[in-house]
Amino acid sequence: MAFQRPLQLLTCFTLLFSRIKLGNGAATARPYSARMADSVMLRGQAIHDDSSDSSGLLQVGTFQTALLDLVESPSAQYLEQDWESFLSRSADSVVGLVDNATQDTQFPLDRLSVGKGLLYQYERTGNETYKDALDALRLSIDLQPRNQYGGLWYYVYPNWSYLDGMFSLLSFLPLYTSAFSPSNSSSTTDSVLYQLDLLWTHCHDNATDLLFHGYDASKTAVWADPVTGASPYVWIRALGWFMMGLVDFLELHLTELEGRLGIWHGRFISLSNALLDTVDEGSGAWWQVLNAPGREGNYIESSGSAMFVYTLLKGVRLGLLEDTVKNNYTTVAERAYQTLVERFVDENEDGTLSYNGTVGVCSLNSTASYEYYVNQPLVYDSVLGSAAFIRASIEHELYKA
Ligand SMILES: *[C@@H]1O[C@H](CO)[C@@H](O)[C@H](O)[C@H]1NC(C)=O
Ligand SMILES: *[C@@H]1O[C@H](CO)[C@@H](O)[C@H](O)[C@H]1NC(C)=O
Ligand SMILES: *[C@@H]1O[C@H](CO)[C@@H](O)[C@H](O)[C@H]1NC(C)=O
Ligand SMILES: *[C@@H]1O[C@H](CO)[C@@H](O)[C@H](O)[C@H]1NC(C)=O
Ligand SMILES: *[C@@H]1O[C@H](CO)[C@@H](O)[C@H](O)[C@H]1NC(C)=O
Ligand SMILES: *[C@@H]1O[C@H](CO)[C@@H](O)[C@H](O)[C@H]1NC(C)=O
Ligand SMILES: *[C@@H]1O[C@H](CO)[C@@H](O)[C@H](O)[C@H]1NC(C)=O
Ligand SMILES: *[C@@H]1O[C@H](CO)[C@@H](O)[C@H](O)[C@H]1NC(C)=O
Repeated sequence: MAFQRPLQLLTCFTLLFSRIKLGNGAATARPYSARMADSVMLRGQAIHDDSSDSSGLLQVGTFQTALLDLVESPSAQYLEQDWESFLSRSADSVVGLVDNATQDTQFPLDRLSVGKGLLYQYERTGNETYKDALDALRLSIDLQPRNQYGGLWYYVYPNWSYLDGMFSLLSFLPLYTSAFSPSNSSSTTDSVLYQLDLLWTHCHDNATDLLFHGYDASKTAVWADPVTGASPYVWIRALGWFMMGLVDFLELHLTELEGRLGIWHGRFISLSNALLDTVDEGSGAWWQVLNAPGREGNYIESSGSAMFVYTLLKGVRLGLLEDTVKNNYTTVAERAYQTLVERFVDENEDGTLSYNGTVGVCSLNSTASYEYYVNQPLVYDSVLGSAAFIRASIEHELYKA
């Protein structure tokens, strides 16, 4: 980790202290997953406020997803913050914002990511306010505009579909269906796979075997490929959201990986292999613009790299990926994880952790040029990065256990 604060001694002391305090004699330091989750809660992040931050809902949703994973994992015992009351505050900060399906369609698809925390709160309290918001989110998918192929618009831009939105769709729709209308589960699977198929068809990059950021079905955007409508660059976090959503979705179907699900299992392997091919040999992690490795201005990005570590380790743990001598996913993920810790995790004097190196928003409402992607500002302690790091850490801790 990078000791960027002045009082390194104190930081070392804090480390030692946490080792003694929580190790109970077993020399176990508090794991990064729990420490980073506590740090996000102590910073008061992942609570939606009135700011015009366009990723506000996604910050809430992605952190709640990481936190709920964490409480199910062995690392949960190391959490120090009162995560249940935090989750309740976090859910309450969005429940009134998403309870109108018509209005929901004015938010990016990212809005759906908050459904997981709302469902948790509903099941815990039975309070119908949460159920109303869940129903509104569900209905908002049916109201969401679609392009000529039936692809969901990501946001207000006519006929544009992005990889990014799939994390939220995949994390919400199957969950909602299994909770409230299990008889709809096969039609839910079909409609989700249909969205994935459209993105694969339009965004597949034959040069890298990865997927471009998104496509414009009308092919009129300045960046649109005249044949496919795709944007020209493979943006790390768009693919990161897509891969995380895909591995979480396949986890729900491990015993039925045939037919269309089998095809998507195959595509998951193909994307994972392509990630091994594009990993930066020098650092062991991945570039902000994946199809321009080493190009001037390009850099190793911390949120997308964490999403890939999560995806690869979880893929192996679930048996979706199998290490071979040629494609050793765990070796690559392990090295990438060490790079994340060394380069991007900062120890603060108060014992909290910070996370650096996460790019802010990259929108297709832009030139979508190489210069655009590499000049978007980094955001220190972005929840989009730290939540991804928590999920990567959970998988890493399971792998090491
Ligand atoms: C249900 O939850 C909402 C949102 O937190 C809250 O405003 C309301 O008071 C709760 N209702 C009950 C009966 O607890
Ligand atoms: C939901 O939002 C729409 C559009 O803003 C508005 O017309 C409608 O009255 C709202 N519905 C409720 C129940 O508030
Ligand atoms: C979006 O697609 C629809 C259906 O194909 C088409 O009628 C409309 O003109 C498109 N909108 C734009 C802005 O290209
Ligand atoms: C169940 O599926 C049908 C057909 O796709 C759809 O119209 C309906 O809204 C779904 N119900 C729920 C609760 O998701
Ligand atoms: C990629 O290859 C597929 C199948 O070979 C082809 O249909 C598609 O048009 C190609 N895409 C591009 C952007 O060249
Ligand atoms: C993959 O790497 C791990 C260590 O990172 C090693 O234990 C394992 O044997 C390797 N698997 C194969 C098939 O080479
Ligand atoms: C975060 O990383 C950037 C790029 O390496 C560096 O310039 C900056 O000083 C770091 N920020 C902090 C607060 O450490
Ligand atoms: C899209 O970009 C244009 C030009 O920068 C800007 O005026 C507009 O507000 C953006 N749209 C959204 C929804 O942010």
